[in-house]
Amino acid sequence: MNGIPDHRPRFPERRRAIGIIGAGAIARSAHLPAYRTWGLPVVAVASRTRAAAEALAADFEVGTVHASVDALLADPRVEVVDLATGPTGRVELIAAAVAAGKHVLAQKPLISDPADLPRLLEVLADARSRGIRVAVNQNARWAPAWRLASLLIREGRIGDVVGVTHLHDKPLPPLVGTSFDDVPHMLLNDYLVHWLDITRCWLEGARVVEIAARDHRVPDQPSAARNPWGADVRMQTSTGASASIRIVGSARTDAGGCPFWIHGTRGTLRGSILLGSDRLVLETDGESTELALDGQWFTDGFAGAMGELQCAIDEGREPENSADHVVATVRATFAAVESAELGGAPVRPHDLELTTALTGRSGAQ
Ligand SMILES: NC(=O)c1ccc[n+]([C@@H]2O[C@H](COP(=O)([O-])OP(=O)(O)OC[C@H]3O[C@@H](n4cnc5c(N)ncnc54)[C@H](O)[C@@H]3O)[C@@H](O)[C@H]2O)c1
Repeated sequence: MNGIPDHRPRFPERRRAIGIIGAGAIARSAHLPAYRTWGLPVVAVASRTRAAAEALAADFEVGTVHASVDALLADPRVEVVDLATGPTGRVELIAAAVAAGKHVLAQKPLISDPADLPRLLEVLADARSRGIRVAVNQNARWAPAWRLASLLIREGRIGDVVGVTHLHDKPLPPLVGTSFDDVPHMLLNDYLVHWLDITRCWLEGARVVEIAARDHRVPDQPSAARNPWGADVRMQTSTGASASIRIVGSARTDAGGCPFWIHGTRGTLRGSILLGSDRLVLETDGESTELALDGQWFTDGFAGAMGELQCAIDEGREPENSADHVVATVRATFAAVESAELGGAPVRPHDLELTTALTGRSGAQ
């Protein structure tokens, strides 16, 4: 099929120097490997524990370990600060980086406490006024099948989106005994953030009028697992388009993945991500075409998120994954958690208009 857009990560001609804050699991398993593969230069690292920063620097040949976050922010070589920390304290780290004149890529979830939202918006306004770009590491937007689906939707290949459906047909990652299991409503608050985020991207142009979510314990779930392993989210929009996300629990399968369906007024996209299940089929005018995909979410998606920020800096525009754009995902997440707190009662999220600077589409009623 002709004219299929390129879904791979994009980079500016000159890749900007990165300083990483947070030498934990995701920095080691995804950020650094992706940057190494795609030639993104990491010049410095700082973390709460110097030993962790030193070990990471040694394994990935990062030249400088700073003793503190302040020292990294004062390093004139660092152009982009890559926050690989958790959500606690994230806003003040962004504020400090902005005050130091650095562009920022912050890990997801951007924030997980509604009390942080007013301060976040203040910091983002300050960044805008200084011409500093703050983006969020919504790396799943660059999972190959999801990225290509986003580009095809944007080109209008399936018309207007009518419905988005996700099924989590894979085991959950190990959660028992991890810090993630301490997060209230962890699946909704953290794990599903990527699914909520991509869904709202695909529904852009609509206003979310209702979110209903539940999480629940499943048969055979060990008592040591504090968080429920099953979750269902349903989203209804002003256009009539709707979405549903379902995690059955820890599926006992090696052959699964995360299938998704995007039904539109002119066609359908069917695909899957993760566990090697990656694929995307475009069906329009009675013809189904399997589209070629290159790469994997882990770790190419991480290069995609950083590449988009760096292109946006060069091109003098907001990145697709700007924090301002991701705030709608944050609001959707808070609404899902609130609904789960209410036992699944629908919540009308405040101010959840899915607008975008990219397509110019906004808020159809
Ligand atoms: N696909 C993904 O995008 C993906 C996958 C897994 C985790 N994550 C996210 O990445 C973030 C980090 O997760 P993780 O599993 O690497 O956690 P982690 O606890 O293993 O690592 C976090 C690191 O940041 C350091 N840190 C925290 N606050 C700091 C501060 N104020 N100053 C300096 N260092 C600080 C900690 O010491 C630790 O080394 C979380 O928000 C998580 O949700 C994203």
